[in-house]
Amino acid sequence: MIIAIDGPGAAGKGTLARRLAEALDLAYLDTGLLYRTVAAKVLAAGGDPATPEVAEAAARSATFMDLNRPDLREEAVGQGASQVAAIPGVRAALLDLQRRFARQPPEGKRGVVLDGRDIGTVVCPDANVKLFVTASLETRAARRQKELRARGEASIYARVKQEMQERDARDSARATAPLKPASDAVVLDTSEMDADGAFRAAMDIITARTTAPPA
Ligand code: DC
Repeated sequence: MIIAIDGPGAAGKGTLARRLAEALDLAYLDTGLLYRTVAAKVLAAGGDPATPEVAEAAARSATFMDLNRPDLREEAVGQGASQVAAIPGVRAALLDLQRRFARQPPEGKRGVVLDGRDIGTVVCPDANVKLFVTASLETRAARRQKELRARGEASIYARVKQEMQERDARDSARATAPLKPASDAVVLDTSEMDADGAFRAAMDIITARTTAPPA
């Protein structure tokens, strides 16, 4: 069982994916953390995340152990992740790790929930269920700002919104695996939903897609 969840930042994918994995007893992978790992490695070495050779070398050395780095959620790392994510060699190096996780879920689980930008389109085109989780730019910027404040990081709404818009543009415009719904994805707009509402809506979609109609 593979559930693919794609969408822009702060649309609620991560919270939703984690809850679905728990409810359905599936393994969970936040694939954005892989791109964040690559950016964090480059930044920690004083490099520029937009330089292909440097970013590709970091991607080739990435392992699941790196996902425990404490700096992955920093804003600078998020921006760097969006830059390394536009480099085809970085995406190719990370593709293998993601597909291996989907094919052989850890801890003997019977399947996976993967969240990211290109899971339904590129990483797992044969996923059983594909959700494209989105929300208005204003809603997402407000959610991101709340997250930052909760972590004690000072932030200005207008700036958060602008950075989010820049990241959306970069993720959607890149030539390799751009952010877009798969043709067979169900779009879930969470602008007017809280986490519980999004979870219920997603469970309904999954149930409908994985339950065979009566003969
Ligand atoms: O979801 P996130 O903010 O942690 O992702 C960080 C960046 O990584 C995001 O700007 C785009 C990129 N990304 C990607 O290109 N493909 C994925 N499957 C996941 C993330």
